[in-house]
Amino acid sequence: MTEPLLFISGLSAVSDRDGGSPILRDVALTLERGEVRGLVGESGAGKSTIAKALLGILPRTVRVTGGTIRFEGRDLLTLPAPALRDIMGSEISLIPQDPQTALNPGRRIEVQLTDGLRLRRGMSAKAAHARALALLEEVHIRDPLRVLRAYPHELSGGMRQRVLIAAAFALKPKLVIADEPTTALDVTVQKQILRLIRGMQRAHGTGVVFVTHDLGVVAQICDSVTLLYAGKVIEQGSTADVLQRPKHAYTRALIAAGPRYDRPNAGLEPVPQSVFEQLRAEIGIK
Ligand SMILES: Nc1ncnc2c1ncn2[C@@H]1O[C@H](COP(=O)(O)OP(=O)(O)O)[C@@H](O)[C@H]1O
Ligand SMILES: [Mg+2]
Repeated sequence: MTEPLLFISGLSAVSDRDGGSPILRDVALTLERGEVRGLVGESGAGKSTIAKALLGILPRTVRVTGGTIRFEGRDLLTLPAPALRDIMGSEISLIPQDPQTALNPGRRIEVQLTDGLRLRRGMSAKAAHARALALLEEVHIRDPLRVLRAYPHELSGGMRQRVLIAAAFALKPKLVIADEPTTALDVTVQKQILRLIRGMQRAHGTGVVFVTHDLGVVAQICDSVTLLYAGKVIEQGSTADVLQRPKHAYTRALIAAGPRYDRPNAGLEPVPQSVFEQLRAEIGIK
């Protein structure tokens, strides 16, 4: 048996900021190589906490109380810092939520794209430049030479997000974490960016954990989905199974509430109070 790309089991965490209240409750999920898994739930469900744990950037006020995260068999929670540094940004990378703040405003795009190639892959300046150019072409940027010379403020939000996608794939990672990568963009750009991420991960066979609160996004790009509520996995499986044959009342209610259930008034039906009562009873919270 070969190890899956990612194997999370029994993952539990508490917040030392909120008096030790649980953030993750016995979370288990598996990701195979080349699979795109949606991590879905409303605000506060624990999606970003899982993403941060995968990137080794949990805040100090979040304490893991149990469980394992194995990346190709290596336990990310117990790996020594140097080994973890070798993995982060290189074998596991991030497409961030906000393209406005994720790029360094004072440095040209070329520097930001080539730093990792030079420092972590030992490329010459010339080779890194050529690779950065090819990466920008791969994310369908039309005038890549101009963009390489540009500063972030000279680019639109959609262009910046393309640059960040190029950066996330630059070192050929095995796992990309996308934490709500399209929420800051307008709808037409969102669709293009989703297609781009899907295209890049297919071309490279990359596994993706795609954090979103939008089941419409899940339907569009995820092979599988894990639905969280209050840090607990409520339902998971292939996207087709979960969206077409939901088992849990909460999943059914979210589907009925429409793709943007997080936005009051946008959905067809809000999630009924009785469903939240059922969830809280199951999880054992007030
Ligand atoms: N820096 C932090 N320290 C302690 N607790 C945190 C911190 N950040 C978030 N939390 C708590 O973790 C819980 C889950 O948050 P998060 O993972 O950000 O949810 P999501 O991404 O699904 O909206 C929330 O209850 C939040 O209060
Ligand atoms: Mg979040």
